[in-house]
Amino acid sequence: MSETTDPDLDDSVRIADPSIDTDVIDRIESALEEGALADGPEVRAFESEFGAYCRTDHAVATSNGTTALHAALEALDVEDGDAVITTPFSFVASANAIRLAGATPVFADIDLETYTLDPADVERVLAERDDVVGLLPVHLYGLAADVSALCELADEHDLFVLEDACQAHGAAVRGDRVGGFGDAACFSFYPTKNMTTGEGGIVTTDREDVAERVASYVNHGRAENGTGDYDHVRLGHNYRMTALAAAIGRSQLERLPEFNERRRENAAYYDDRLADLPLETPTEPDGYRHVYHQYTIRTDDRDALADGLAARNVDAAIYYETPIHRQSAYETVSTAAAELPRAQRAAETVLSVPVHPALSERDRRVVVEEICDYFHNQ
Ligand SMILES: Cc1ncc(COP(=O)(O)O)c(C=O)c1O
Repeated sequence: MSETTDPDLDDSVRIADPSIDTDVIDRIESALEEGALADGPEVRAFESEFGAYCRTDHAVATSNGTTALHAALEALDVEDGDAVITTPFSFVASANAIRLAGATPVFADIDLETYTLDPADVERVLAERDDVVGLLPVHLYGLAADVSALCELADEHDLFVLEDACQAHGAAVRGDRVGGFGDAACFSFYPTKNMTTGEGGIVTTDREDVAERVASYVNHGRAENGTGDYDHVRLGHNYRMTALAAAIGRSQLERLPEFNERRRENAAYYDDRLADLPLETPTEPDGYRHVYHQYTIRTDDRDALADGLAARNVDAAIYYETPIHRQSAYETVSTAAAELPRAQRAAETVLSVPVHPALSERDRRVVVEEICDYFHNQ
């Protein structure tokens, strides 16, 4: 649903524009009539449908993607003094969740083609430290990280793998969807994501013990098989999803395949038309299914190109201009001094252009025209 009152008068091309079906109103009405607003059957139904989509045995809904990551790390027994290896090139929440769990995020560099954790650099870090308990790869921009190599490393070193799939609903590797590769995975349903619940998140897992502990952590630490409603066995939180969010999520999940197809079509349109320009377009490695949460190009002219697009009313965005370990909030983190040249290079050159499913034919034509004009006038 676009925020503008008359879309015909608005020629801007937004970086995100969630499409909400009118059936959401009916679903919300029935959730309201049912009366269980904070949790309850609507949330359980959404969990079971999302888990089925990811083909995992369990799914536990949460209030957002960050709380999903925090609760999952707690359920995986991460504690003070532990270290978890993650990427410096992500939204800050990926590493923040490790800190919230009391552990230290340790950064390994990325592969510059895929923008995801480079297993070889993870191996380098593992050789240097003996306090690492897990890996937290991020499926950035809608492309899965190198899960085979990372899971192999985790097996060798007896580590857990927690997938940050907050940007990758429906991404797959050799036919398997993200969400089931590691010990657990977390998704965000923030409005800019491939599907939304307003605010919301979910943890998917095949491990029953992890699902039970996540459900406990998100609900004030209640006993898994509690004898009574007020039997609390650990320090938990209120990270629950509301029934209203779940009602939106159930409608969005039905449309996720269509949304992702549309994103892929828009990406293919850009791939074809930008191929001969002096810039890098996104990579989709063999066997991978990219769901283009973002369509991110890379060029040394990034800032001037972004200005040109802005002049034509096209939103282009930089995800992310400052790698996590270089953020001010990380100055006191012991691993903030790491030299990670490929993450730094990505931060200096990436630019994401609109690829969302609500783009019109005109919208994507304007994006291409502006990028082509920019380079032809150089
Ligand atoms: C990679 C990644 N991890 C974690 C999060 C956190 O999700 P949320 O904003 O729902 O807390 C986001 C959301 O932007 C994200 O993109």
